Order: sequence, then structure tokens, then C-alpha cells
Amino acid sequence: MDPTLTVRPFEAADAAPLTNLLHAAYAELGAMGLNYTAVNQDVETTRDRALSGQCWVVEQAGQIVGSLTISLPPSRGLRELTAVARERNRAWLNQVAVSPSVRGRGIAGHLWRLGLTWAAGRHAESIGVDTAIPADHLVRLYESWGFERVDTIHWPGKTYDSVVMTRPVTPKDT
Ligand SMILES: CC(C)(COP(=O)(O)OP(=O)(O)OC[C@H]1O[C@@H](n2cnc3c(N)ncnc32)[C@H](O)[C@@H]1OP(=O)(O)O)[C@@H](O)C(=O)NCCC(=O)NCCS
Repeated sequence: MDPTLTVRPFEAADAAPLTNLLHAAYAELGAMGLNYTAVNQDVETTRDRALSGQCWVVEQAGQIVGSLTISLPPSRGLRELTAVARERNRAWLNQVAVSPSVRGRGIAGHLWRLGLTWAAGRHAESIGVDTAIPADHLVRLYESWGFERVDTIHWPGKTYDSVVMTRPVTPKDT
């Protein structure tokens, strides 16, 4: 990764600046009419979601410019929505965001490898992710990371259906 970037685990004090990053990163999805929670979630929601598993932040010159969270197990809301999230030893990918100013440099890919290794080290057998069906580019991104479509859900209050995707964790991922 670019040497001006550093990656470290999330700390509680990051919740406010991380919320700002999430709003900036997810604005394009909001503009597509996709009301993802991260478009306008509050700081407490960011903190709760980040602390639901392992969250990393990427910093550049003291600013948070990227983040990813892996939850183990997936959130209760998700487990209520789909049996896929109730599978034993299944982790879940959340709050993936990279600042528009540093996109296309492999930051999300780097965070994904960290998350995958972390999940493998905690004996996760697979990882799930859900995203809006109309966000084709994200479905393709997750497919490029090895995820396959397995279910469709509808989060209460959302303008879209979401595809649920899973990917096994293999010995190579540790
Ligand atoms: C999705 C997102 C996290 C990707 O972050 P990123 O750091 O730019 O991604 P990477 O540089 O690691 O690229 C990942 C893949 O996306 C594609 N990609 C990313 N940015 C691209 C760009 N500007 N142009 C073309 N392709 C691009 C590449 O094909 C790349 O594939 P590769 O690994 O085969 O090279 C970022 O665009 C983002 O924050 N989007 C808004 C929030 C969001 O959609 N979150 C996910 C919600 S489920």
C-alpha cells in the first residue's frame, strides 16, 4: 500500500471521524436512491457496528480515509432476516468504505485481506456480506473477492432488496 497510509485497529475515539468518512463514501449510494444506513448513520451507530467485531481504519495525514469491519457472529438483525447469517462460525463484512479521494489504489482490497485473515484466525468457516441489488459494481467487487450469491433479503425501511453473498474461509486464508 501507499507508504503515506497506515492501518490500525479502530478505537472508540475514531467513531466521529469514521462517521464522517462513511457519510462521504456512501454519498454516491445515497445519490443512487439507495438509503444504506451508512449514508446518514449517527456516531453511536458507527461505534456499535465497529465494536461488533474487528474494525480497522486507514489513516493518511491524521485523517481516516478507509475502514472495514468484520463481525463474528453477524448482527442480531441480520440473523433475524436470513438463515444464512445463522450458520455456525459465519462472520460478516460491514461498513466497507474508502474516501473518494483515494479510491482505486487497493485500499479496500488490503482491508479485505486483513479481515479475511482475522476471521480465519478466529475459526470462522465462512464470511457473508449483503449489499443492495442495484449496486452492481459492489456485487461484482464481492464476486471478485470470491463471494457467491445465496439469498435475497429486505432490510426494514430500505428502498432496495439486498443480495446476500457468502464465501468459504479456506486454509489458504490464514
Ligand atoms: C467499494 C470501495 C470500498 C472500494 O474501495 P477502493 O479502495 O477504491 O477499492 P480497491 O482499490 O481495493 O479496488 C477493488 C476493486 O474495485 C475496482 N475499483 C475500485 N476503484 C475503482 C476505480 N476508481 N476505477 C475502476 N475500478 C475500481 C477494481 O476493479 C478493484 O478490483 P481489483 O482488485 O481486481 O483491482 C469504495 O469505492 C467505496 O467506499 N465505495 C462507497 C461505499 C461502498 O460502496 N461500500 C460498500 C457497501 S456494501
